[in-house]
Amino acid sequence: MNGLRQFSLEGKVAVVTGSSRGIGRAIAEGFAGAGAAVTVNGLNPETTQSVADAIVAAGGKSLALPADVSKAADVERLIEATVAAFGRLDILVNNAGISPYYKPAETVTEAEWDEVMRVNLKGVFLCCQAAGRVMIAQKSGRIINMSSIGGTIALPRLIAYCSAKGAINQLTRVLAVEWAPHHILVNAIAPGFIETDLTKGLRENPKRHNALIQRVPLGRLGTPAEIAGAAIYLASDAASYVTGHMLDIDGGWLAL
Ligand SMILES: NC(=O)c1ccc[n+]([C@@H]2O[C@H](COP(=O)([O-])OP(=O)(O)OC[C@H]3O[C@@H](n4cnc5c(N)ncnc54)[C@H](OP(=O)(O)O)[C@@H]3O)[C@@H](O)[C@H]2O)c1
Repeated sequence: MNGLRQFSLEGKVAVVTGSSRGIGRAIAEGFAGAGAAVTVNGLNPETTQSVADAIVAAGGKSLALPADVSKAADVERLIEATVAAFGRLDILVNNAGISPYYKPAETVTEAEWDEVMRVNLKGVFLCCQAAGRVMIAQKSGRIINMSSIGGTIALPRLIAYCSAKGAINQLTRVLAVEWAPHHILVNAIAPGFIETDLTKGLRENPKRHNALIQRVPLGRLGTPAEIAGAAIYLASDAASYVTGHMLDIDGGWLAL
């Protein structure tokens, strides 16, 4: 038994997409605290750099790499720069995601549908592909995709978002099986409602907020730190026999 040591990420190299704020930031900082070198990514160069600077100031290793995960050339740059800086790539967290529309399905425009699918689904696939090529050559790797309870249950007025998250669950299963011979473990985390900018509109609407709190068995929203712990587990030796799994972190939502 090696207790807490099996959760160490010492010597590992990670890319966390969408880590300039919210859940991604908590995961990037959690990984760095567990010993990994972390590439911080986002669209905004200033906030991306400031998270990497905070990790380095706390004694960790980090690189800031602003890039759009929905563009293949940007994704290649993200992975290549990480390998150039740290020599390898052990962990990819596909966390970047958007949810800009809350509207009836019949009113969603083609452009709105495409935008959500481009970032939330195509972006995940492009990052898996680029990182997967490096991991296949290395004969090891961990990929963690950020899904949602909306990938399993219906969240009305979020048709494109839920469709993309459901597809992420299937992408996770297919890659887990396809890349198992390469010793690449592929899992997903499916959060319930978490306190970030993404849920700001909902949290500031007292009627929706109260209805939400009453629906969650634990009676509150989750925090980004409560997702980071699960990501450390899935990236670590402690999860060496876990692949193709969707880990719900939802305060008991799906149990009710
Ligand atoms: N919050 C929740 O309740 C909840 C629940 C279930 C699942 N999730 C999932 O968890 C993930 C993180 O959510 P969050 O709540 O932390 O969101 P958030 O606070 O809105 O942060 C989103 C992050 O993604 C980045 N991003 C957006 N589009 C990008 C793109 N095209 N390329 C690269 N980075 C991009 C943003 O960068 P900039 O700052 O530069 O824009 C930011 O760092 C998402 O996949 C979301 O669907 C969240």
